[in-house]
Amino acid sequence: MKLRRFGGTGWQVGEIGYGMWGMAGWTGSEDAESLASLQRAIDLGCNFFDTAWAYGNGHSEELLGRALRANPSEKVYVATKVPPKNRQWPSKRTFTLDESYPPEYVFEYVEKSLRNIGTDTLDLIQYHTWEDKWLDDERMVRTIEQLRASGKVRAIGISLNRWEPWNGIRAVKSGLIDAVQVIYNIFDQNPEDELFPACREKDVAVIARVPFDEGSLTGTLTLDSGWPKGDWRSTYFVPENFRNSVEHADALKHLIPSGSSMPEMALRFILNNPDVSTIIPGMRKIRNVEANIAASDKGPLPGALQAELQKHRWDRAPTDWSQ
Ligand SMILES: NC(=O)c1ccc[n+]([C@@H]2O[C@H](COP(=O)([O-])OP(=O)(O)OC[C@H]3O[C@@H](n4cnc5c(N)ncnc54)[C@H](OP(=O)(O)O)[C@@H]3O)[C@@H](O)[C@H]2O)c1
Repeated sequence: MKLRRFGGTGWQVGEIGYGMWGMAGWTGSEDAESLASLQRAIDLGCNFFDTAWAYGNGHSEELLGRALRANPSEKVYVATKVPPKNRQWPSKRTFTLDESYPPEYVFEYVEKSLRNIGTDTLDLIQYHTWEDKWLDDERMVRTIEQLRASGKVRAIGISLNRWEPWNGIRAVKSGLIDAVQVIYNIFDQNPEDELFPACREKDVAVIARVPFDEGSLTGTLTLDSGWPKGDWRSTYFVPENFRNSVEHADALKHLIPSGSSMPEMALRFILNNPDVSTIIPGMRKIRNVEANIAASDKGPLPGALQAELQKHRWDRAPTDWSQ
């Protein structure tokens, strides 16, 4: 596993990290399988794990805690998130700080996450939704400063709403935060426009999330695919988005290099960008862990293929279903 700088923190993190939502939020998860996958990832050099209190009300954090205790001699970077108090994803322009992240509530959730994971310090705490305008409330600035001084968190980040990479640029430029988590993949290339240059300038780490567009960029979805009732993906891949997503993914299939796969091409596309510190594919299965970490050995894509894939940029705007 190749390592990359995590912004100005001084950390060296694996360029393939681990997204831990599915294992505590999507249907079809089995703890035993998830724990075996986490172990395989650690064995293969993965050292950055992204979880959140909201992933199963602490369950994903507890699984990470178990993996940490099984590997006491490994340095594993733990990134988790405080859920918005109103439990609304994404945040909206009208949400106030009191509705979303009042100071005492943020500290309460840091404590909850510490307990769930069973650790004294969180490497990275992230706000699970973000509005740049919250910076107008000086309590936000003070909370971030107090979190940093508390010794309970080593770094502070924000996780941007889907398809709103602009709504975090002010936070990056403020110098208050260490990391930004944003959707970045073959379709969603718009963080390159303004967000990444700002991160470069301020040495803010970039966590590239949803590298497979929640599954369409694995190339496995067909128009017959479906999810059990209650699975979050059935609310994202609504008919309007589903057909489009399958068509956009199908249009990439002829570009897959021989001997490669769509997921590998999707990860290597992201690896081409040096602004990215780590990519966090969601994975529950060992075979996916092995395949995704192997993408790091293959490295960035050849320039001609990268250029071809850049043409598949698909700019989307938030809607009722996009969450
Ligand atoms: N607001 C936020 O802060 C926010 C929102 C969304 C996501 N995230 C973070 O980002 C992470 C990644 O996003 P995501 O999990 O939503 O979506 P994703 O990474 O785009 O896709 C995950 C899906 O891809 C499958 N997969 C992974 N590797 C594969 C491979 N090599 N071949 C075929 N299929 C493969 C997974 O299968 P299996 O699970 O069955 O292995 C899972 O169904 C999350 O886990 C979470 O940590 C944060």
